[in-house]
Amino acid sequence: MYDFAADLKQFSEDFNRRLPDMFHFPKGVERRVVEAMFYSLSGGGKRLRPFLVCKTAALFSIDTSTAFRVAAALEMLHTYSLIHDDLPAMDNDDFRRGRPTCHKQFDEATAILAGDGLLTYAFEVLASADEVPCEVRLKLCALLARRAGAFDGMIAGQMLDLLAEESPNLVDDAIIRHIEEMKTGCLIAYACQAGAILGKASDAQYQAITRYARAIGIAFQITDDILDVTGDAALMGKTLGKDAAQDKKTFVSLYGLDNAKNQAAALIAQAKDCLRGFGDAAVPLSALADFILTRDH
Ligand code: IPE
Ligand code: IPE
Ligand code: MG
Ligand code: MG
Ligand code: MG
Repeated sequence: MYDFAADLKQFSEDFNRRLPDMFHFPKGVERRVVEAMFYSLSGGGKRLRPFLVCKTAALFSIDTSTAFRVAAALEMLHTYSLIHDDLPAMDNDDFRRGRPTCHKQFDEATAILAGDGLLTYAFEVLASADEVPCEVRLKLCALLARRAGAFDGMIAGQMLDLLAEESPNLVDDAIIRHIEEMKTGCLIAYACQAGAILGKASDAQYQAITRYARAIGIAFQITDDILDVTGDAALMGKTLGKDAAQDKKTFVSLYGLDNAKNQAAALIAQAKDCLRGFGDAAVPLSALADFILTRDH
């Protein structure tokens, strides 16, 4: 029987082992920014997004070594989003991945630059992944920019998240769903879509994978919001109770814990349904969907 926890653990150990090879530290004092980038990137994290890239690519018999740099680029971009999310001007958090946040460990300006550095380096890694055909790389670069971007991607979601704190009257179900979908769902969608693009999925397969990813993406943020209330800070590696303290608008603030949990469960059922056409190769993706619902970190 497939053991999701063991597979993810093995994947993240392999992933973490390969990370240092992707970094070089300049000799001059400017190495501080690279140290800050590496500090945040290497300091824990579940590695769910790179796992998703590789397991979606595996549906099409693409092996992890071919998908690896695409997966690493996404994890770099995700880590930049966390560094900036934690800044005093945003969520003002002191702990991340079980350690002081980047701006606490270094300083605010260095953390801003470390985020910029990871964002920029993600595209270098992706564009120079020569194990992936050129035209595929180009598609992957353009899509990553879009999903992470300000028009309808992660940055747009982060903007809405901040504006919603200021204007609670504007916030209804549709807007909260939109925030969750953009700030978190877009990078999760990218993870799966990148795997499908690497695998040269048919249109129908790409659509099914996109529906799966959209559903788990919202569910993932709903459970993040639930764990902000009910979770264990040591397991989560971050300060909890922040959403209520900062008047964040989440599924939990709008519907309460039980209803939010039910909505996440319905999304997970929908997500698993989208995998039906992929047979046994989709077992890890199905198990990942279940993990989202039951996770404690
Ligand atoms: C945290 O993401 C930020 C959200 C989008 C909710 P993760 O819970 O995947 O964080 P790491 O990568 O494991 O640290
Ligand atoms: C973060 O959402 C989403 C992004 C970083 C894009 P949250 O603000 O809820 O994430 P945590 O709870 O700080 O990890
Ligand atoms: Mg935030
Ligand atoms: Mg935050
Ligand atoms: Mg949160």
